[in-house]
Amino acid sequence: MPDSGARELPWWRSAAIYQIYPRSFADADGDGVGDLAGVLARLPYLAELGVDAIWFNPWYASPQADAGYDVADYRGIDPLFGTLTEAEELIRQAHTLGIRVVIDVVPNHTSDQHPWFQAALAAAPGSPERARFWFRPGRGPAGTLPPTDWQGFFGGPAWTRITEPDGTPGEWYLHLFAPEQPDFHWEHPGVRAEFESVLRFWFDRGADGFRIDSAALLVKDPALPVSDPDERAYTDREEVHEVYRSWRSLADSYPGGRVLIGEVWLPDPERLARYLRPGEMHTVFNFPYLECPWEAGPLRTVIDDTLRLHEAAGAPATWVLSNHDVDRVVTRYGRADTSFAIYARHHGRPVDLALGTRRARAAALLTQALPGSVYIYQGEELGLWEVEAIPDELRQDPMWERSGRNPANPGRDGCRVPLPWHGDTTPFGFSPEQATAAPWLPQPESWKECTVAAQAADPDSMLTLYRTALRLRRTLPDLRTEQLDWLEAAPTGVLAFRRGAAFTCVVNLSGHAVPLPVAGTPLLASGPLAPDAAGLPPDTAVWLRS
Ligand code: NOJ
Repeated sequence: MPDSGARELPWWRSAAIYQIYPRSFADADGDGVGDLAGVLARLPYLAELGVDAIWFNPWYASPQADAGYDVADYRGIDPLFGTLTEAEELIRQAHTLGIRVVIDVVPNHTSDQHPWFQAALAAAPGSPERARFWFRPGRGPAGTLPPTDWQGFFGGPAWTRITEPDGTPGEWYLHLFAPEQPDFHWEHPGVRAEFESVLRFWFDRGADGFRIDSAALLVKDPALPVSDPDERAYTDREEVHEVYRSWRSLADSYPGGRVLIGEVWLPDPERLARYLRPGEMHTVFNFPYLECPWEAGPLRTVIDDTLRLHEAAGAPATWVLSNHDVDRVVTRYGRADTSFAIYARHHGRPVDLALGTRRARAAALLTQALPGSVYIYQGEELGLWEVEAIPDELRQDPMWERSGRNPANPGRDGCRVPLPWHGDTTPFGFSPEQATAAPWLPQPESWKECTVAAQAADPDSMLTLYRTALRLRRTLPDLRTEQLDWLEAAPTGVLAFRRGAAFTCVVNLSGHAVPLPVAGTPLLASGPLAPDAAGLPPDTAVWLRS
């Protein structure tokens, strides 16, 4: 496909990438779970929305202990979602519509049902089969204590003890996430070779890139320190960069601009940027931006840090407001504390949805006006909010059980509720009329106002705002440049910057109306402006031709 950038920059430097969480996007076969046929049928929706690429969360064969991040076959599609033939067809048809396809790769861990792990369980301690994973004897006289005191990211110990084939209590294996997700041993040449082969498998089928799951965690300190309070034994180790250097040469050996996107969830932008050194990843997700509160000062700092570090690395910035692991942005911005932390979700605290929606609209215009690529998590364009009221017995995220069923931090189900497409009652077109099962998580009745059909013809809807912004972002030459210049004269609490010769973005986070710091013709605003367009109300953004 031709590059769309006016200056012939690689497509991924400025792309708008839409994240599809397959189980919640569209259900064609009526079993209550989204599938690839559902996505195929909705590709025209994505083309009309105006995105350049789709990133699919894992679609691989999996027992679904962590919604597909426990992969049993890296070359096969889970029957829940469809078939390999359908995946190939999806890639082909997306390309026909000018949409590129990025898929998830999960290299840190696999599924406990993966043939390699099953073989390791059946083999003896010290065997070559166990060498692909982290098997160790336990501590204490009878080996009853785990080899280290490391905790898993979902809560609970990061080690599980197995029963040996002869029935005796045996070794322990490492899993930084759920017990169903054993960690690979990345010093093992067979593991490295296997993943290179998996990347080739999908590149050969037309995949335009990979989103690399848990990318900072692959390599562990072989000494396995018993205590590791700052997590340096398994986070961000230097040897992990060798892996990405070899993946980069592999990706760059394919035509058409294949991209490697790192999920490197580190709080420190300097550490993040190390994954962008020449010959490593093309881009990484901008979690510092996602976690930032809706406040001018911190946002300005994170934007400046991002641009400075990415420019130095020669990589494009990315801008992310939400994904399948975090509370939806409308809800976050409607709370008193608008920052986000994965282990402190604040469920149950008051949410002002009208305020959150106003801010999310302004944030969308801020995000899409910044230079670099942007991510849109499905439903963000519909202004969906976090569904906090999911009955406990329906929760499926392993975080819920493993972190002790904490109602204030119940896990990630609330941002994974199936999308509303049309109609007045659930399943809102997510599943077909003859469906045999309800959506896998219940949709709020009030989402009848958020359906695609309800928003499509409404000039003031979130969907219309996203469609218009994406179209302008794609077509305005000023937004194809990679430079941003702040208007330092903007009032306190206002973010204002120029792109190119005649584009200005102004975002008012000051809490009261402000005069526009620059004259210009509004191209798009996130909310009503004062009648003469001279004043910008609070929590509102405007794009100006100036
Ligand atoms: C990050 C993914 O985004 C998340 O959904 C998953 O649970 C963990 N990695 C483990 O694969």
